[in-house]
Amino acid sequence: MDFISQPFNSLEGKITWQSPSNIALVKYWGKYGDQFPQNPSLSLTLSNCHTTTKVEYKPRKSNSKKYTFSFLFEGEQKPDFHPKIEQFLDRIAPYCPYVLDHEFIISSSNSFPHSSGIASSASGMSALALSLLSIEKERVGLTEEQFLNKASFLARLGSGSAARSIQGPVMSWGHSPFIEGSSQEYATHINSGIHSVFSDYQDTILLIDKGQKKVSSTLGHQLMEKHPYADIRFKQAHQNISRLIEILSSGSLTDFITLVEHEALTLHALMMASNPSFILMHPGTLEVINKVWEYRKETDLPLCFTLDAGANVHLLYPKSNATTIQQFIADELAMYCQNNHYINDQIGDGAKKM
Ligand code: DP6
Repeated sequence: MDFISQPFNSLEGKITWQSPSNIALVKYWGKYGDQFPQNPSLSLTLSNCHTTTKVEYKPRKSNSKKYTFSFLFEGEQKPDFHPKIEQFLDRIAPYCPYVLDHEFIISSSNSFPHSSGIASSASGMSALALSLLSIEKERVGLTEEQFLNKASFLARLGSGSAARSIQGPVMSWGHSPFIEGSSQEYATHINSGIHSVFSDYQDTILLIDKGQKKVSSTLGHQLMEKHPYADIRFKQAHQNISRLIEILSSGSLTDFITLVEHEALTLHALMMASNPSFILMHPGTLEVINKVWEYRKETDLPLCFTLDAGANVHLLYPKSNATTIQQFIADELAMYCQNNHYINDQIGDGAKKM
């Protein structure tokens, strides 16, 4: 697919998109070239954790700088975000030359607390990509499919995992022979062959550490380049994708739990075995994991965990078990969260135009 925009005259307007975060079940960890993933990944799109981004645009008066924009986060000017946005605009300019012809006021806010340790790059970059692409859609017209694929393509150039936040509830990104239409360039949703047990899956995010990550995902991805286990990991991720596709269709929660927890621990094992190595789990992360294992043994309830590149724990379970499991979380796990803070979320359908 050719993602280069037709030229058009600059115009004035504003647009707002709300885009959710997502949680990977098979992890993207390792990239090459222009933000291409070393292996396919598969995620659940969330709903309550989201970023809302308004973009106001007008024709640009010539200026010595390459781009003209201001960025407000929760109402305040945030110049420290400028380099990240400039890098994003640099990457998308070959496909969206209109970012050079307009000036922008970008205003963003998150539904989750800023310092919660929740990665905001997936929701933030996807909301920005959608808002900018809407300018092109309005002017040159794009089919729904072209719009969604290009939005995911642009979001990917901002942050790999952002490619998977455009739609939902189950997204894959990266080519897999087991997923029809899968692509290295953008994510697509898997809309058939998903067992109903997953249709209302819950994700409770335990905020074990709300601080800034000590090691960025970008550095973690880089460390996969010379990682001694890289090849075997990328092969394993391919196998896990094909296995997970079968599991999502069969609805076997036992197999789901085994695969998802193994993926999470593998991600952290890869970090521990990189050079330099790093540990993002905290004592509370391990306490929670052990508690979840004990709880499952005692109750046989299908509660499992997954991890991002951080200390927080995502707890996954079907909605039919929500009352019992949420009581367990409040009684036994909240104490490991900073200020007892956790967020109940659930799977969702992706970004919304406001
Ligand atoms: C562990 O998407 O944050 O969350 O492409 O450098 O922005 P960049 O990385 P990012 O990496 C996410 C890694 C992960 C796993 C995942 O979401 O698949």
